[in-house]
Amino acid sequence: MDKKIVLSGIRPTGQLHLGNYLGALSNFVKMQNEGKYDSYYFIADLHALTTNPDPKELHTNVRHILAEYLAAGLDPEKSTIFVQSDVPEVSEMYLLLNMHVGIGELMRTAAFKDKARKALGITAPNQGDDDEDVAKEIIGASTNKRVNAGLLTYPTLMAVDILIQRADFVPVGKDQEQHLELTRRFARRFNSFYKTDYFKEPQNFNFGSAPVKVPGLDGSGKMGKSEGNCIYLVDDEKTIRKKVMRAVTDGGPTEPNQPMAEAVQNLFTILKLVGTPDKVEFFTEAYNNCSIRYGDLKKEIAEDIVAMTTPIRERILDIENDSAYLHRVLEMGAERARARAGKTLADVREIMGITKF
Ligand code: TRP
Repeated sequence: MDKKIVLSGIRPTGQLHLGNYLGALSNFVKMQNEGKYDSYYFIADLHALTTNPDPKELHTNVRHILAEYLAAGLDPEKSTIFVQSDVPEVSEMYLLLNMHVGIGELMRTAAFKDKARKALGITAPNQGDDDEDVAKEIIGASTNKRVNAGLLTYPTLMAVDILIQRADFVPVGKDQEQHLELTRRFARRFNSFYKTDYFKEPQNFNFGSAPVKVPGLDGSGKMGKSEGNCIYLVDDEKTIRKKVMRAVTDGGPTEPNQPMAEAVQNLFTILKLVGTPDKVEFFTEAYNNCSIRYGDLKKEIAEDIVAMTTPIRERILDIENDSAYLHRVLEMGAERARARAGKTLADVREIMGITKF
C-alpha cells in the first residue's frame, strides 16, 4: 500500500528559532526517520511575496531555511525538500482553483484581516463591535493605501500547495488551522461542482502528543521572531547565554509551594524541553522550598540550549556556504514535487474542461 503523504511549508521570513525547531522541525525529522510517511517539506517563497519583501532578503531567507532544514536532519534522500516556486504547476493550479473561491470568505479569514489592517494602518475593533472595518476600508475609495490581491488569495495558494500533492496530513500550528479548514472546504466544493471525488480532505497532524508550545524569554506568550524574545538556531554560545540570563523572572518565592508567576513557569517549560528530568526535579524542589537561585536555573537552561543547538549551528554554517549541495538538493526535490504536482494539474485541467484538441 502507498504511504500516506505528509506535507508542510514554511514562509521564508527570517531565521528559525528554538520554537520552530522544537515545535515543528524536530518532529518533521522524527517522522521522516520513522519511515511511515512519504514527506514533503517546502519553502513557501511565493507566499512570502504577499508582504512584498526585499528581493535580496527573500533569496537569502530561502537559503537560510533550506540550510536549517538540512542541518536539523531533514534528508533529501528520505524526504522531498523543495522550494514552492520551483514547481510552476502550483501557480497554474492557483489560477484554476481561484475560480471556485469566494472573495467574501477570503476577506473573513482572520490572518487576512490582521495583515490587511496592518497594511491599511487601522486598529482592530473591540470584540463584539462592527467587524466590517477591513471590508469598508478596502472597498471604499477614501484610502490611498492598498491591500494586494495576493494577500487576499493567500489561502487559495496554500490550498493548492496541499491539494496538488494530494497530502493526507498537514502538520501546522493553531494559527494555520483556519487555512486548513478552507482547504477542505475548497476541496469539497470542487468535488461537488464537478461531481467527482477527486480531492480528499487533508487533516491536521499531531505528533502523537499534545503540540509543543515553546514560551518566549520575555515573560509571556510564545517564542516568536517578531517579539525579540527568542533564541535562533544560528545564535552563538555567547548570544544564547546573554539572552537566557536576561530572561524575565520575579523576585523569587517567599513561601513554600507558592504558585509560579508566568515568567518563571515559562523558564521551567523551557527547561523541560531542553534539559533532563533530574534537573527539572532539582529546580522544582528548589523553587518549592524557596532555595532557588534563578541565576543557576538560567545557567542550566543556557548550557542545555547550547548543547542542543551547537551541532546544528555548525552544520547550518557549513551547508549554507555549499551552493553546489543546495542546488543538488533542490533539483532533486523539485523533480519529485513536480512529478506529483504535474499529474494532479493534468487531472484538474481535464476535470475543468481545459483539454487539448
Ligand atoms: N501559511 C503557512 C504559514 O505561514 C505556510 C504554508 C504555506 C503552508 N503553504 C503551506 C503550511 C501548506 C502547510 C501547508 O505557516
